[in-house]
Amino acid sequence: MTAEELRRCYVGFFTERGHKEIASASLLPENDPTVLFTTAGMHPLVPYLLGEKHPLGTRLTDVQKCVRTCDIEEVGDDSHLTFFEMLGNWSLGDYFKEESISMSFDFLTKVLQIPMERLAVTAFEGDERVRKDVETAEIWRRKGLREDQIFYYGTDENWWGPVGQTGPCGPDTEIFYDFGKKKCSDTCGPACHCGKYVEIWNNVFMEYKKEADGSLTELTQKNVDTGMGFERILTINQSKTNVYDTELFIPVMTVLSEILSENETNMTMRDKRILCEHTRATCFILGDDKHIAPSNTEQGYIVRRLIRRMIRILKKAGLPNDTLIKLAEIIILQYQEVYEEIGQNGPFILEQMKNESELFSKTLDAGLKKAERYLMERTVQAEDVQKKGEQQKKEQRSELKILSGALAFKLYDTYGFPIEFTCELAEEKGCLVDLEGFQACFLEHQEKSRQGSEAKFKGGLADHSVQTARLHTATHLLHAALRQVLGEQVQQRGSNITAERLRFDFSHPVKVTKDELARVEDLVNSAIAKKRDVIMTEMTVEEAKEKGAIGLFENKYAEKVKVYEIPDFSMEICGGPHAGNTGELTGFQIIKEEASSSGVRRIKAVLRERSE
Ligand code: ALA
Repeated sequence: MTAEELRRCYVGFFTERGHKEIASASLLPENDPTVLFTTAGMHPLVPYLLGEKHPLGTRLTDVQKCVRTCDIEEVGDDSHLTFFEMLGNWSLGDYFKEESISMSFDFLTKVLQIPMERLAVTAFEGDERVRKDVETAEIWRRKGLREDQIFYYGTDENWWGPVGQTGPCGPDTEIFYDFGKKKCSDTCGPACHCGKYVEIWNNVFMEYKKEADGSLTELTQKNVDTGMGFERILTINQSKTNVYDTELFIPVMTVLSEILSENETNMTMRDKRILCEHTRATCFILGDDKHIAPSNTEQGYIVRRLIRRMIRILKKAGLPNDTLIKLAEIIILQYQEVYEEIGQNGPFILEQMKNESELFSKTLDAGLKKAERYLMERTVQAEDVQKKGEQQKKEQRSELKILSGALAFKLYDTYGFPIEFTCELAEEKGCLVDLEGFQACFLEHQEKSRQGSEAKFKGGLADHSVQTARLHTATHLLHAALRQVLGEQVQQRGSNITAERLRFDFSHPVKVTKDELARVEDLVNSAIAKKRDVIMTEMTVEEAKEKGAIGLFENKYAEKVKVYEIPDFSMEICGGPHAGNTGELTGFQIIKEEASSSGVRRIKAVLRERSE
């Protein structure tokens, strides 16, 4: 099957079985301050997994764009990617284990005709909180799988979620494809990384919620959350052994090979793959409708890191920077059919890539020279070695060479070397970087940039507390007020809410004046004072548009969407949750207005307790 045939085939299989198709949500999560990217299809569905009613019912399916930066070091092998598409189907309190496994089994063996002998599956071994999932193993047995195709693993392998500290989670059953290679040892199984098994699908039985104190409570509904790696299943379907040999990467890999031969140079297969993979990821991040540009914080930092890594690879091979543009053009052409935004934002993607490449290449040579010198002069400072994962290195510790945190920071600050990039350079020279020392310098010098660090990935999904619901309603009021004061061309570019504050990005070419901000604040506070009900209605996207609702019209397949209305003030398509009445809000105050990226302004605001 072609890639697009496979996407449609998957969605078609599930829509035939009562699922409604939803569109891929943005790669940049709405109202979730704790994660940088959408990392799984379930992200946008968290409220519904927790019990909120979905307007399209209890069975959903989609193809979701995802970014996982945790796999960045693995990129270049046969199957790990930073950007990928996830095929998903969900039961929101509808079917459970039996039906979910049956559908997955039928899709793989009947539709894709993967021989049953090629499958291996896992089930949860049980722990002190939740018992062993013998039921799942039994269902697989009934499907005809042999005992040696069924494996039990513990929490590390067979428990999925929550994404952060709290939220929906549960035991899962993972489905692997067995490439048929010999077992690498007696204990070789799906959890082994020798390449015999590749995980293709994960079915999570989400019947629990992890609370802030670490305890598990049972959810009011038993859900199923599944995710299949699209590039991986396509690899298998197209009888290949790695994702780069599928039609998704062949065009860009071919152009790269042509450029290499025109320039009479070469690069390792790993570098070729990294270049093509990172180009694709960069196109998707920059090409998201929220217009993220390279920067030193958050998502902008990730895209900066990807581009800078690519520039160095090009430099190593002696290729010009505009190679990136040539590769990106191929990706844009190829993906715009499926993801319209990639085509629409094509000029922005290319412009940002060009700017960032030019910016970095100015300092790259000087920086590389400096780094080389620092690494030559490396000193032995055994006590400074960062402690993590050092067991096997302990004996060699006295021989380890360390690049100090201060020098790593200098490379970052003066030459724009992302820390991960410096680590890579150091590793090539058999050196370690004092990351703690770097972090200390970083915090000292750039308190503001702190949010950009990877620590963000480890946080919890946004809570759905009363306070965040109120700030969410305040965001709608702010959005409407901005349009009244600045004009209807103002459009939301992003929203991010913590329990303390809201942050709202919107399109506007110039700084918002003090006077305008004061008027916006007054409008919001007067809407609060009017104690208006916040009314939720379900309607079709067409009806919502006709009624003048604003918001992201992302749900192109949805028959019905939720529209939140604050009468005479605001009407937005939105998933919720919200306050019931604007009177629950108090003292709206804008605390900051600043530039976010070119043509995009950012407002931070709070709800203060009234003093009277
Ligand atoms: N949410 C599950 C995963 O990402 C399906 O593996």
